[in-house]
Amino acid sequence: MTYSRVVGTGSYLPPQILTNADLEKKVDTSDQWIVERTGIRERRVAGPEETSCSMGVEAARRALTSANLAPTDVDLIIVATTTPDLVFPATACLLQERLGMRNCPAFDVQAVCSGFIYALAIADKFIRTGGARRALVIGTETFTRILDWTDRGTCVLFGDGAGAVIVEASESPGILSSHLHADGRYADLLCVPSGVSKGYDKVIASQAYVHMAGSEVFKVAVRVLGEVVDEALEANGMQRSDIDWLVPHQANIRIISATAKKLGLPMERVVTTVDRHGNTSAASIPLAFDEAVRDGRIKRNQVVLMEGVGGGFTWGSVLLKY
Ligand code: ACO
Repeated sequence: MTYSRVVGTGSYLPPQILTNADLEKKVDTSDQWIVERTGIRERRVAGPEETSCSMGVEAARRALTSANLAPTDVDLIIVATTTPDLVFPATACLLQERLGMRNCPAFDVQAVCSGFIYALAIADKFIRTGGARRALVIGTETFTRILDWTDRGTCVLFGDGAGAVIVEASESPGILSSHLHADGRYADLLCVPSGVSKGYDKVIASQAYVHMAGSEVFKVAVRVLGEVVDEALEANGMQRSDIDWLVPHQANIRIISATAKKLGLPMERVVTTVDRHGNTSAASIPLAFDEAVRDGRIKRNQVVLMEGVGGGFTWGSVLLKY
């Protein structure tokens, strides 16, 4: 049986830090409110020249270096992003060119904050079915570019960054399972209401940015993440105690804690970056994963549960043996 195994990780954060104190100067908020409700203390903001592609390239280079591979060793690129550089071509194609790679499939996946889970699940299916041997999977976002900086309900939550993993075909596990879900009935709870197909001429400024019904999003997120935990354990015949690490999407420390509680995991076994990164959407899971791999917390053969939820709504999990 062929599995996909993680052989490299990398990430990139833009240098510019935006603290809660900085936000107090922009909108009617406070460090105390933001920390109590979300756990976020600061987030990164892409510089004027930085884009989802440029940050993804840096994360990809670091992942390739950690795997001791050249770009040409990769035969599939999947980029998860909600904030592509261009309407088209796909950010994955732009990134392919910048890395000097040729003639491998490269495409974007749009599942907002679940994007990395979707992209990794797709890469796993390519590898298991012989469609690729080695895939570069990236989550990268310039989410701060789609924020209304006068809306205190959303602008305090998000940040920018990129994370990447390389997965390759292996006889030993590997990714053990992936589960993907979506329910478009919740589309209005979290969205950017304007779009290309509706016509540029009809875009009004208030519709060009993130709209969110925060407390409804919170409730759906906690419910569906609880469900994916049960689903992943059951599919693998595992107990909660079999999970060594939870690497969750970093939206809000209260959502993360609720999932950890469901798993019976102490917070020391949960990788959290939300305090320093905020919610970087599709980038948050690979950013957190890379951090914990590099600092030695996540070790070879440990069992890691990744889970995410985002606009769509979309949600899902990947369970893997590192
Ligand atoms: N500073 C101060 N006050 C604020 C701020 C702010 N930044 N934002 C909202 N408030 C106010 C509201 O106006 C409201 O005031 P009111 O009672 O006078 O009307 C009050 O705080 C309470 O607002 P709620 O929305 O009920 O606050 P809640 O406890 O639900 O927390 C939050 C809001 C943090 C957004 C929470 O609902 C949440 O985290 N939801 C999940 C959203 C999320 O994670 N989105 C990310 C994308 S989806 C994903 O990744 C899962």
